[in-house]
Amino acid sequence: MADLQLTDDVPPEADDGVWLTCIECGETFAPFDDIRYTCDDCDGLLEVRYDDLPTFEDFEGEGSGVWRYHAALPFDVGVTLPEGDTPLHEVPRIEESAGVESLRVKHEGMNPTGSFKDRGMTVGVRVAQEVGVDRLACASTGNTSAALAAYGARGGMETLVLLPAGKVAAGKIAQAALHQARILEVDGNFDQCLDRVQDLAARGEAYLLNSLNPFRLEGQKTIGLEIMEEHYADYGEYPDRIVLPVGNAGNTSALYKCFRELVEAGAITEDQVPKITGAQAAGAAPMVEAIEEGRDETRRWEDVETRATAIRIGNPVNAPKALPGIRATGGTAVAVTDEEITEAQRELAGEGVGVEPASAASVAGLHKLREQGVVDDDESVVCLTTGHLLKDPDAAAEAGAEPEPVPNDTDAILDHIDDRSSVRTGATKAVKSLALVAGGLGAAYLYRKLRSTE
Ligand code: F0G
Repeated sequence: MADLQLTDDVPPEADDGVWLTCIECGETFAPFDDIRYTCDDCDGLLEVRYDDLPTFEDFEGEGSGVWRYHAALPFDVGVTLPEGDTPLHEVPRIEESAGVESLRVKHEGMNPTGSFKDRGMTVGVRVAQEVGVDRLACASTGNTSAALAAYGARGGMETLVLLPAGKVAAGKIAQAALHQARILEVDGNFDQCLDRVQDLAARGEAYLLNSLNPFRLEGQKTIGLEIMEEHYADYGEYPDRIVLPVGNAGNTSALYKCFRELVEAGAITEDQVPKITGAQAAGAAPMVEAIEEGRDETRRWEDVETRATAIRIGNPVNAPKALPGIRATGGTAVAVTDEEITEAQRELAGEGVGVEPASAASVAGLHKLREQGVVDDDESVVCLTTGHLLKDPDAAAEAGAEPEPVPNDTDAILDHIDDRSSVRTGATKAVKSLALVAGGLGAAYLYRKLRSTE
């Protein structure tokens, strides 16, 4: 079982107060002398450790974005576009339909390449420069490849991306292509692409920048820092719960590391740590299975399928870091269907927040956990939306309204609008009165369901 306890003991391998620790056997390593992604001795996951952990005061007056938090990172500045400082949207209608005390949506789709991966890459590509490599590689369901391509280009490095053929959304491939990555389409799923890229890295052919690389998670930690600071500024308290989509479980691990470090630094108390709550697509839910069955490891799902291609993952490599995080914070993991994901995607879009399907899993998960009575009505919740709507234009078009052909004639257009508006208003009214009759929370849920099928 992984040991995620942070300690004060600085090992002799530390470089300027930074080192790597194996979470399984406790072996420590110098951070930048050799290239390694897992422990030399037992192949366990590595974690970046620091002798000095900052509190919120240390970030004051340090600008904005990921590098505002340099006191919590291995460098003062990275290869930056810049990234972070994403909005924490108010979503009053979803807050009401979910029936929680407060709900905010942290929209990570507003990063430079449209996903949270940029936060990891700004640090990861900086480390690649430090260790002196010139070829970068990743396996990806799409967003990691888009981010790596852009940050690799920014850093002037060659980039290889291994993608599961036919399973990556169009926007993401377009990004990797234009940023001049070599796109290698593998006849296999994401987990098999990751096996291949690990082989390439082990042979010294490329520097691996998947979330197996512990430095990636350092950058992604800053999502947690931004949420904590902004929530506290707005409400005078930290959120009770953070719900996020889970694939390889890197982000889940990064959030838990963020909170462990804040507790260790004395910035927050143990009971102020938000409950980390994962949402997976029902067709790719090994983390949910492990949580439900009380297991310390996930079982590899060979066959995975979901419309949310970003989280179409059956072997979450960061599970040994993420499962203890979910448990220790009192969180949980929940599976949602593709239909529930699309419904949540529409609901977010109805608040002006455009996200790709995987992102909407967080909001779908929150609804499900409210129905199950797992999330209480007095909770303050933050849902993470991880990628932008334009990442997957096909899914957006499918979930959205149909284009309506009209003649090239103003009167005819007005007639058409009037016809369609009266139909739509009538339908909405009927649904609303039905919801009123049913009353209470159940009604809000029904209304949401009916509205989405209008
Ligand atoms: N949401 C989106 C939009 C993603 O692209 C990913 C992962 C996740 C959630 C899950 O995050 O892996 O940290 O649990 N995408 C990776 C990729 C796998 O290749 O882009 P995780």
